Amino acid sequence: MEYRELYNGVKMPMLGYGVFQIPDYEEAKKSVLTALQTGYRLIDTAQAYGNEKAVGDAIKESGIAREEIFITTKVWVKDFTYEKALKAVEDSLEKLGTDYIDLMLLHQPIGDYYSAWRALEKLYKDGKLKAIGMANCYPHVIADFCETVEIKPMVNQVELHPFFQQENSLATMKEYGIVPEAWGPFDEGLRNFFTDPTLTEIGKKYNKTAAQVALRWNIQRGVVVIPKSVHKDRMEQNFDVFDFTLSKEDMDKIATMDIGHSEIVNHFDPAFVKFIHSYKF
Ligand SMILES: NC(=O)c1ccc[n+]([C@@H]2O[C@H](COP(=O)([O-])OP(=O)(O)OC[C@H]3O[C@@H](n4cnc5c(N)ncnc54)[C@H](OP(=O)(O)O)[C@@H]3O)[C@@H](O)[C@H]2O)c1
Repeated sequence: MEYRELYNGVKMPMLGYGVFQIPDYEEAKKSVLTALQTGYRLIDTAQAYGNEKAVGDAIKESGIAREEIFITTKVWVKDFTYEKALKAVEDSLEKLGTDYIDLMLLHQPIGDYYSAWRALEKLYKDGKLKAIGMANCYPHVIADFCETVEIKPMVNQVELHPFFQQENSLATMKEYGIVPEAWGPFDEGLRNFFTDPTLTEIGKKYNKTAAQVALRWNIQRGVVVIPKSVHKDRMEQNFDVFDFTLSKEDMDKIATMDIGHSEIVNHFDPAFVKFIHSYKF
């Protein structure tokens, strides 16, 4: 496994396992156990995914030492006050069955996220959170946030894949010492991602799939990736990306695939913002 060191010295695996859209307890627990057996040591969950308990139980059942596993979870918008965020973190600790969380993120820069951030800063100073970060921040948001808060985020988890590359966002994160983490590294399968001709053609040279090429491309850009699959063979495939290096020519070819915007979410749409505020779980 390769690692990225956060600016506070915490080491984060470059590849993890995401558990979005696995709400069923048994399926989530089984998937996380299989991922841990495959070798994944970073698990990315969220309060809004409704599966923190399954993640915690799988980790316990795996028998792997807690300190070998990097747990990320996220506080949802409905808990973005100082007091509610403190309580939300306590809830996560209980569900995950742990006394610290490796990385706690605020799930969206929507609502009163500054008040929630102050709660994360307190819990970081108390040692309950080993690292704190944001998600879904575009460059102007991350710059404004970093210029305002006491403790800058260590990570910004955003949508990053060949069709939405966000080089401008990576540059801003670099300026503030923030590690970028890719959600939706396969564009959630849109645009026939897994049979894309460019990625497939490049993959043939290295005996790798389109999925593996896409993960490797982000890793080579310094981006942490957290692909999701409930299938063991795909989990294994997605984990097997450390024995090859894409040439500069292939990296450049993938750079031409960028369409410059998301086709999954639109943070600029008032209806989306309203939906985020009203989302209950
Ligand atoms: N911070 C945020 O706002 C945010 C938003 C979205 C996601 N996330 C995080 O990022 C993680 C990953 O993103 P995502 O789950 O949205 O999308 P993704 O990883 O881009 O795509 C997942 C989809 O790809 C399929 N798949 C996975 N590996 C495959 C392979 N090798 N070949 C063919 N199909 C494959 C999966 O199907 P099967 O499961 O059926 O194999 C699933 O339908 C999430 O699980 C979550 O932890 C965070």
